[in-house]
Amino acid sequence: MSARSGPIGSAPPLPLVGDGLPVPCLDGRDRPYLNLDSAASTNALPAVADAVRDFVPWYSSIHRGAGFKSRQATAAYEQARQAALAFAGRDPEGDDIAVICRNTTEAINHLAYRLRLGPEDVVVTTVVEHHANLLPWARVGRRRFVECDQEGTFSTAAVAAALSESPRPRLLAVTGASNVSGWLPPIDQIVAVAHDLQVPVLVDGAQMAAHLPLCPDADYLAWSGHKMYAPFGTGILIGPRSSFTDGDPFLAGGGAVDLVDLDEVAWTDPPDREEAGSPNVIGAVALHAAIDELGRIGWPAITSHDRRLAEHLKSGLAALGGVHLLGPSAAVSTLPLATFTIDGVPHALAAARLSAEYGIGVRHGCFCAHPYLMRLLGLSSDEIAAYRHAVMAGDRSRMPGAVRASAGINTTAEDIDRFLAAVSAIADGRPSPVHYRQDPATGDYWPDGDVPGWSGTDRAVGASCARG
Ligand code: ALA
Repeated sequence: MSARSGPIGSAPPLPLVGDGLPVPCLDGRDRPYLNLDSAASTNALPAVADAVRDFVPWYSSIHRGAGFKSRQATAAYEQARQAALAFAGRDPEGDDIAVICRNTTEAINHLAYRLRLGPEDVVVTTVVEHHANLLPWARVGRRRFVECDQEGTFSTAAVAAALSESPRPRLLAVTGASNVSGWLPPIDQIVAVAHDLQVPVLVDGAQMAAHLPLCPDADYLAWSGHKMYAPFGTGILIGPRSSFTDGDPFLAGGGAVDLVDLDEVAWTDPPDREEAGSPNVIGAVALHAAIDELGRIGWPAITSHDRRLAEHLKSGLAALGGVHLLGPSAAVSTLPLATFTIDGVPHALAAARLSAEYGIGVRHGCFCAHPYLMRLLGLSSDEIAAYRHAVMAGDRSRMPGAVRASAGINTTAEDIDRFLAAVSAIADGRPSPVHYRQDPATGDYWPDGDVPGWSGTDRAVGASCARG
């Protein structure tokens, strides 16, 4: 039995819904699609798809319906909330609440609004963050950054130094795992140091949730279902109830209130206070199923699978001439992902060729983490200014970037070999069967010709991989 068809319930690799679907390639053949873009989004675990299918007939309004189905759906939604708390290492009966929202970005924006910072308040964050953990803080206060070294890492001492500067920060907002380099900051140590300095911590768990336990001591946690095999539009924000008991909620509307008159409102208690509007019940059910399934598989099996894949992927790429890995050296263990450049091959062209000629899906560009990628690429401020100028003028053809391959619970050693063979062929200069044309407005490449799936009319309007 191949690893791809292993029974559900065994150790990873475990198949996901949709694995191996045939996709058209430029030679006219179909190939089984290989998704190496798990750091962006994952397919559903079969247990998640089953839970959704079983729940759909029972779908109903929650928190606002007296019918039997409404009661069942409300129970399912609230059970998902309890499961999220437990997944984050919280006592479901304890002091923390889980706000069910859309994704990590919304969770962090939500928190940024709810902390009610003043324009002079400081949030310490790092240059390693993706945009979701950079931009919301710029809107509500001042940011103080922890810089990274050439390998894209920083020390706990550097965090402590930034936290110790005056004025004392209101929050440390830091990732638990980088979406670009896969680097795992010593997060437990960092949280402990911040707490010694009496600074609360938000850990961005977007990249952690599918790969390792979330940080139980962080004051706030944010993560997404769509990166942990529950792609149904749900994310979670965890934090102490006291952070949400005063002031306006992030969203105003029905479900968040006890009483409304035309000139006044009495907000209800958290977490409902934070969830105005009809909640995403199906997304919550999906997230709950993913949490249960990951719990059943267990972190030891997941982390040893990840370790094997990370080593295979990175050592394989490092051995290829003309391929340059970004991020920490091989000795540092990371998530099972690799970000790299290929001499003489623009990142957007490499990604387009992997897709059109080999049926492999990767991400390219700056991965919604522009400051970090610019540092990993070693770009000067003059170069960055020139790129900014070109982008503002509508020309993305020379946007700097790299290619990222990211693996998940379903990725096999054979998948990595298939990917390495494709990158090797491209790096060795194997000619492409057709000319690729770059769209300066998006920076993406598209093959000439009319092969089914790759003709001019097959191109998705407005699609751009490189935007971040
Ligand atoms: N979702 C973004 C990624 O692809 C941040 O890494």
